[in-house]
Amino acid sequence: MKLNLVSSFTLKDYENIGLIFNKTNSEQIKNLFPILKPYLADESFKYDGETILALTLFNDDKKHNYYIIAFNEDPEPQAILDAFGSLGKRLSSNKAKDILIHMAYAGNLIHHENNYLIALKGLSAGFYTFNKFQSDKKSECPESLDIYTDNSSHQELMADIQAICDSIRLTRELVDEPANLLKPVQLAEKAMEALANTVVNVQVIGRDDIQRLGMNLLLSVAGGSDAEPQLIVMRYHGDPSNDKTVGLIGKGLTYDSGGYSIKPTNGMLTMKSDMGGAAAVIGAMTLIAHEQPKINVVGVIAACENMISGHAYLPGDILTSMNGKTVEVANTDAEGRLTLADAMTYAIRHEGATDLIDICTLTGACLIALGEEYAGVVTWEDQLWDKVKFASDKTLEPCWRLPLNKTIKAKNNSKVADLNNSGGRLAGSEVAGAFVGEFSENKPWIHIDIAGTSYIDDEKPAYRIGATGFGVHLLVELAKNM
Ligand code: BES
Ligand code: ZN
Ligand code: ZN
Repeated sequence: MKLNLVSSFTLKDYENIGLIFNKTNSEQIKNLFPILKPYLADESFKYDGETILALTLFNDDKKHNYYIIAFNEDPEPQAILDAFGSLGKRLSSNKAKDILIHMAYAGNLIHHENNYLIALKGLSAGFYTFNKFQSDKKSECPESLDIYTDNSSHQELMADIQAICDSIRLTRELVDEPANLLKPVQLAEKAMEALANTVVNVQVIGRDDIQRLGMNLLLSVAGGSDAEPQLIVMRYHGDPSNDKTVGLIGKGLTYDSGGYSIKPTNGMLTMKSDMGGAAAVIGAMTLIAHEQPKINVVGVIAACENMISGHAYLPGDILTSMNGKTVEVANTDAEGRLTLADAMTYAIRHEGATDLIDICTLTGACLIALGEEYAGVVTWEDQLWDKVKFASDKTLEPCWRLPLNKTIKAKNNSKVADLNNSGGRLAGSEVAGAFVGEFSENKPWIHIDIAGTSYIDDEKPAYRIGATGFGVHLLVELAKNM
């Protein structure tokens, strides 16, 4: 959806008008839209951020649908995201076309750059609808809409905001795509397509070369499936004279049946979304391609499917990872950490990654602990957590630090191998994170578990059920600040 910033407008041209203003500017609004005067009497100002006052009125000989949001002086960023998100959702549920979002009197909301970004991010998020398989569409997203802010400096910002919204949308589309249509090969194709003709170089490595590289953990997880695993590598060199390269490692299970440690049907139902980390990395690379910051980044995705067959790996197997550490398979459903481990090693050894951020739908325990509200973050270093917190506060992708110490790390010990892929139910997210950290070769490392936030079962003000695009914006802000 294209966001057009217009410098003037003719009301007649629009059937749908989103009118967002600050209550301190209500007199100006009444003068500009006299038809709204009776509805904006002082007592009706219970319509407050959270509530949208919807009116259908005739003026200019034409029917206009007004959607009015009146904010108090200094709204919280989350309230802005939610309000614009619900506006977007509402408009898309009504299949609205010819839309003007009038926010010239929104005060702090447009004068504060990050609030403005949050507002449009929310609006775009609300409009997203995964409707391509519905014959009778329940909601629609228009090709474009107009925004009026009365601030010409917004024009430059607009391209960046558009890129953020587009990258998030791409990630959501990838995650919502069902597993019958999106196997590792298709995921790789989508990454190549999204990054074609950009400054990001993409290389896709297939089964034979994965074997040659010695990525046995990835091959073992992929073993049960007919779908060929793919190692997707996305390189961006924005600061060639600098040795620092941030590795973004995304879990890319295009389906997770659990393998022989099979999941119950209910648990399997949404496992097409087990590539949410990979999709976030692809989205982040497209945003980096647009922003072209002065940093080096390599995105690495070890994509595969966790299935059952005569070729599948088994509980009790002992595997040798790409970096030589041996792993006892206690549970074939703890597959993500295995694929991430080899992807980390590949990023370090073959792509020169000096700093590592892995992002993954790794544990059900993260969902239990933090719900669909917060991503779980694991790192050894307070300073790195501070960086996550800083990025997270800016992008409104909430993160919560989980504890890590030697006892938690020790849960990954095995009696027969160097490591064990399932340290049990207790502290499941931290233990899983610590497992991935075993492959960081003592480099700065951050682990982000998005099992709860990447794909939601409960509707949020700005998000319908399904993919959220969590991580895209966060990863880029974080990578720029590593
Ligand atoms: N992909 C799942 C984690 C998951 C669960 C993501 C629910 C999103 C929603 C992961 O591969 C998994 O199955 N983890 C196991 C680990 C256990 C066997 C140690 C889990 O969380 O139960
Ligand atoms: Zn699993
Ligand atoms: Zn999984």
